[in-house]
Amino acid sequence: MKKNLISISDLTRHEIDAIFLKTDELKSGSKKFSRALQGKSLGLIFQKPSNRTRVSFEVGIAQLGGYAIYLGPDEIQLGVREEIRDVARTLSRYLDCIVARTFSHDDVIELARHSSIPVINGLSDLTHPCQGLSDLYTVKEKMGRLKGLKIAYIGDGNNVLHSLLLGCSIMGMDISIATPKGYEPRRDILHQAFEKSKKSGARITLLHEPERAVKDSHVIYTDVWTSMGQEKERNKRLKAFKGFQIDLRLVSKARRDCLIMHCLPAHRGEEITDEVIEGRHSVVWDQAENRLHVQKAIMLKLMV
Ligand code: CP
Ligand code: NVA
Repeated sequence: MKKNLISISDLTRHEIDAIFLKTDELKSGSKKFSRALQGKSLGLIFQKPSNRTRVSFEVGIAQLGGYAIYLGPDEIQLGVREEIRDVARTLSRYLDCIVARTFSHDDVIELARHSSIPVINGLSDLTHPCQGLSDLYTVKEKMGRLKGLKIAYIGDGNNVLHSLLLGCSIMGMDISIATPKGYEPRRDILHQAFEKSKKSGARITLLHEPERAVKDSHVIYTDVWTSMGQEKERNKRLKAFKGFQIDLRLVSKARRDCLIMHCLPAHRGEEITDEVIEGRHSVVWDQAENRLHVQKAIMLKLMV
């Protein structure tokens, strides 16, 4: 059966460990896989802008010997120019894999349902699994383990948090989440995470006070307050998220050796200060780099 990556919850702890082991090998510069995707073509359907996801996938595909075709918002026009199921069936006749960045999560599911080739979610309004896997890989790389560590997520209960939360709940990493009231993670995602945490032992805490969330944390993570597609809510959100900025004062409440993470793009002066993102705790550039290595491991898992 063909495999997809729509959500981290599609994966077991064992499978994530295997992806991380393969990532280590790829990141160490091994040339073993430089022809692994030879003769294979991948389509990148993007309804939204992207720097990291698009570039790291295109470069990763080239490094594995494959061919990438970028299909921006004006080309395919998912569900507008033709139905998603027709897009899926047509592209399955040309391509070997689809990476899709959509507004609606249902669109990625629909694409996957009607494709006979693997579909990778490159961010939807609900989840961002490639990001979540790269984030956990980065923590493991820096700290040597995930179990027994605590990550504090401060900000919006959005797609990036959903994948991080699911990843932590599978891998047994504690996560403490502080959002303004009304911006909590979605209940169905929380439910999935609590179910998975029963097996892994991960502790999940939901709060509304950033200071309580960061106490004793090994990692502080944030993301933008206004995600792509929510631009009309920007002013309302700026008010709602007041007090949720990662600044030096908040960082001083965490462990002295804590890591600062952000999926990027960052809005300096909003969810994070310039000093913190440029400061000694910040690992955001390594985190961004790891998108490349982790996604190569994901493509090998799904396609080879
Ligand atoms: N973090 C991330 O997915 O970045 P892009 O939106 O630039 O791809
Ligand atoms: N939550 C952000 C993540 C960008 C990578 C968004 O969806 O715009």
